[in-house]
Parts: sequence; C-alpha cells; structure tokens
Amino acid sequence: MRSLFHKTIALFLLGFTVLSCQDKDDPNYQYMPDMYEPISYETYGEYKVFENGQEAKLPVEGTIPRGWMPYEYQNNVESAADAKANLKNPLAYTEDNLAEGKELYTIYCAVCHGDKGDGKGTLVEREKILGVPSYDDAGRAITEGSVYHVMYYGLNNMGSYAAQTSIEERWQITHYVMSLKDELEGKPAREFEDAETAPSNKSRLLPSRADADIYQENDNDQEEDTPETQNQNETQE
Ligand code: HEC
Repeated sequence: MRSLFHKTIALFLLGFTVLSCQDKDDPNYQYMPDMYEPISYETYGEYKVFENGQEAKLPVEGTIPRGWMPYEYQNNVESAADAKANLKNPLAYTEDNLAEGKELYTIYCAVCHGDKGDGKGTLVEREKILGVPSYDDAGRAITEGSVYHVMYYGLNNMGSYAAQTSIEERWQITHYVMSLKDELEGKPAREFEDAETAPSNKSRLLPSRADADIYQENDNDQEEDTPETQNQNETQE
C-alpha cells in the first residue's frame, strides 16, 4: 500500500516535471495536426516555386485600390502650373463642406498658416518655421488647383498631406483656404451652393458609382436585401 502511495507521488512529480518544461509560446503535442498545420501557402511565406521565392506578389502594374483615385498631375513645375490653371474643385461650395474644411484646416494647417491664413501660425510666431506665406500673397496668386496640388505633394518646407487626408477632405480644405483668401483680400463671402442642385457632387471624386456606394452612410445596410445579397445568402445555405 505504502509503495503504491510513493509510486503515485513519483508519477505526479514526473508528470509535473515533463509538463512544466513545456514552452507556452509553442504549440504542445499535436495528436491530429491536420487543422493546425496549414496546407495552403502562407501569405508572406518563402516558397521556391515562386519567382522571387515569396508568396506575396506585387499588384499588377497599374492596379488601383478600391475607392482610390489616381491624381493625374505629376510632382514637377509644369504639372503644378497645369493644376494651378486647370484643376477645379469638384465639391459643391456648401455650408457643410466649408465647415468640414475649417475643422480640418484647424487641425492640419493652422499651426503654420494661422487661423486667418495670414501665415502667422503658432509655429511661425515661435520662429520654429520661416517663409510661410499669407494666402493673399499676390506673387503666388493661389487657386483651387494650386492649393490641392500643394497639399498633395507638399512644397519645400511644407510636407505632403496626401497620407493624412482623403481626396474629399483635401477639397473641403481647399474650399476653406479659398474662403480665407477672399477674406484677407476683403472680398465678399462666396455664396453657398445647394448640395442637391449644384452641378458638382461627391461621386466624381471616386472611380465609379459602384464604389461610391460603399462610402454612402446607410444604416439600413443590413436589412436591405438587394438581389445580389439574396443570391449570396442562398448559396451559403
Ligand atoms: C509646417 C508648416 C506648414 C503646415 C502645417 C502647412 N503649411 Fe502650407 N506652407 C508652408 C510653407 C513653409 C510654405 C511655403 C513653401 C514654399 O513656397 O517654399 C507653404 C505654402 C503653402 C501654400 C502656397 C503654395 C503656393 O502655391 O505657393 C498653400 C496654398 C499652402 N501652403 C496650404 C497649406 C494647407 C492647405 C495646409 C494644411 C493641409 C498647409 N499648407 C500646412 C508651411 C506649412
């Protein structure tokens, strides 16, 4: 009886020793590993069968991500002049767009350009950055197109805002910058357009109507059964 007791304890200790050596970061014994070990290629895995040994491939040249619109102007002097003369704001000049633009401007631009666009932002007053122009600088004579272009590519000491802002946001900021310019020049405020009737609209910022739909806020998305989703539901069942 006694030896059985000892044996049991010894067995426990042995089991404990074995188990305590297990590395928690690694999977333990796998009895039927079928589902643990993927048979398919890992996205970033190395495999000899692929040209450069890597499973993940670069997208085909000219590929455009969904909802992203290529900007047709290049980052050079001629193209900047072209944008300045010909690129127009596709967004209607509505109260909402201007309000959004003001908010974004205050976040991204006002530290340098100042709340009024006179080039006297906090960083300028503290002499952290020099050469920030006022938006009514006659020598620059900024236009909708040039404002957008500068936000897209940056200019010397001013960085690009292409990564922080969407196409729509940049055009909203552009509306606000142009309104600041008018104010600095003592011009009367531009009249607002009606979002419904204005010739311009949001969808022109996006590659196609189909893609534009994903951007429309629609709380009823779940309830609505378009023929397409109905089909999907059927095949899943
Ligand atoms: C870090 C400071 C800084 C911030 C932030 C900044 N800018 Fe600028 N911006 C400059 C400087 C400096 C210049 C002058 C660049 C030059 O001509 O060398 C400039 C120039 C400009 C011009 C005139 C370009 C031209 O055609 O001559 C516009 C328009 C402009 N900025 C708009 C914006 C907008 C819109 C934002 C916010 C999205 C912004 N800036 C954020 C520093 C800044």
